[in-house]
Amino acid sequence: MICRLKPNVVKSNLLSVLCAAMMTTFLTACHASPQAEKANVSTDTRSENVKVAAANAAQPVEAAAEEKIVIDLGPDLEFRGTISGDVLDFNDGKGEDTPAVTQFKKTGENPYNGNKARVEAGYTIFSTACSGCHGHLAEGKLGPALADDYWTYPGNKKDKGLFETIYGGGQGMMGPQKGLISKDEILHVMSWIRSLQNKDMKPAH
Ligand code: HEC
Repeated sequence: MICRLKPNVVKSNLLSVLCAAMMTTFLTACHASPQAEKANVSTDTRSENVKVAAANAAQPVEAAAEEKIVIDLGPDLEFRGTISGDVLDFNDGKGEDTPAVTQFKKTGENPYNGNKARVEAGYTIFSTACSGCHGHLAEGKLGPALADDYWTYPGNKKDKGLFETIYGGGQGMMGPQKGLISKDEILHVMSWIRSLQNKDMKPAH
């Protein structure tokens, strides 16, 4: 063993300590191997548990997806492009209509407003789809601030108007978002934008 090769060097003490340590480790490892195997098994189980825990942690949003949204009877409202004034065609939109979307088309009121999980999910969507132009906290950049109460298009004070602007687009760089994100995602983003204007509720981040 290496420790026997240089018995007289100054560091021999250190080396023998190291050797002893190695031997101990080796022996312990041999003796402990059955336990070690067991330990590995239990580590695996633990990592399984971690996965399960992670899945459970993800559940609040999933549970929120199953929240009860009572859909009013009656006809859909007419949604019109903020700029064009033309009736918006909901068939060119992306994604399936969720209960929230079906309800929104009838009432013009966003059922996700004030729902923490929806607001947070809305912020995540905003971060990828909108923040590049509107700023991370919608403070304004290339596009105007959405966090204050000034609107270029006063119709945006209402959820119906806000949806019309986002879905159908505004001027110039503010293209229609309908082909980019689903109507349900737009409702999520809108709930986050509203949370900025509601002083009682902090933005998600
Ligand atoms: C490529 C840049 C760009 C992207 C991406 C973008 N916007 Fe815009 N947005 C603009 C610009 C520029 C305007 C101003 C246009 C106008 O006044 O007609 C605007 C205007 C708006 C308005 C009207 C504001 C008002 O004061 O009435 C809303 C609401 C809006 N954007 C929301 C969004 C949302 C939500 C997203 C993401 C889903 C988004 N925008 C993505 C550039 C962008």
